[in-house]
Amino acid sequence: MDVKHVILILSGKGGVGKSTIAVNLASALSSRGFMTGIMDLDMHGPNIAKMLGAEAAVLASYGKKMQPVTITGNLKAISMAFLLEDAASPVIWRGPVKMVAVRQFLEEVDWGTLDVLVVDLPPGTGDEALSISQLAPNILGAVIVTTPQDVATLDAAKALSFIRQSGIPVLGVVENMAGMVCPHCGSGIDLFGSEGGKKLSERESVPFLGSIPLHPGIARCGDAGRPFVYGDKDSEASRAMARTMDAIMAIISG
Ligand SMILES: Nc1ncnc2c1ncn2[C@@H]1O[C@H](COP(=O)(O)OP(=O)(O)O)[C@@H](O)[C@H]1O
Ligand SMILES: [Mg+2]
Repeated sequence: MDVKHVILILSGKGGVGKSTIAVNLASALSSRGFMTGIMDLDMHGPNIAKMLGAEAAVLASYGKKMQPVTITGNLKAISMAFLLEDAASPVIWRGPVKMVAVRQFLEEVDWGTLDVLVVDLPPGTGDEALSISQLAPNILGAVIVTTPQDVATLDAAKALSFIRQSGIPVLGVVENMAGMVCPHCGSGIDLFGSEGGKKLSERESVPFLGSIPLHPGIARCGDAGRPFVYGDKDSEASRAMARTMDAIMAIISG
């Protein structure tokens, strides 16, 4: 495929916010004028379609190529969700089949010319992560997403070391779900502890890309198919999301 930069979004643990970061990054990039693709490689739990408000879309194919779903003029998406008959159908595949699917998503999709492809992965270092790291061209690097909690940073360290062993640069660590403000009394709650992602980045000598708090708006936007970067601009959470996306885009722009 014809793409300048591929960015992998990876974590050790599930549910830490990879898909949320992937969707917001892809939206931020496309709104800045980058021709952007987002590839959902979470075959068993594809969330990108819903998070982009494109649940009803199905893939068309012309000739030999599948057409990605156009989200906006310069944002295109591909996901298993677009290939399943209904949202509740499970995908039951062994490793080699996943590798074929990853290759098809790269080679048999009519992406056109992309500036950036954002790849949303399932948690951990299984077949999907291995296949994309071996098959994708021009991988700029991987963003590691974690919560501040030890059980998340421990697993994130494994993902980070997998990326290093694959010879792929680690772009940095995003700490998500880092504290929240009680809507009733206004005081802070460190639900998953604090600074775990920052400490991980220091231990591993990789850039710290930002810390995003827990915020009901982020969860709501995900379900509503509206990326949070376009949500309310007045909360600390939206400023934190914007700062984090800016830090990643600064790396992409070189
Ligand atoms: N900072 C946040 N504040 C509130 N909810 C969040 C935040 N980040 C993610 N979520 C929600 O948490 C859940 C898990 O996030 P998701 O991006 O799907 O994680 P992953 O892709 O790592 O499994 C989703 O329902 C998402 O909307
Ligand atoms: Mg996900």
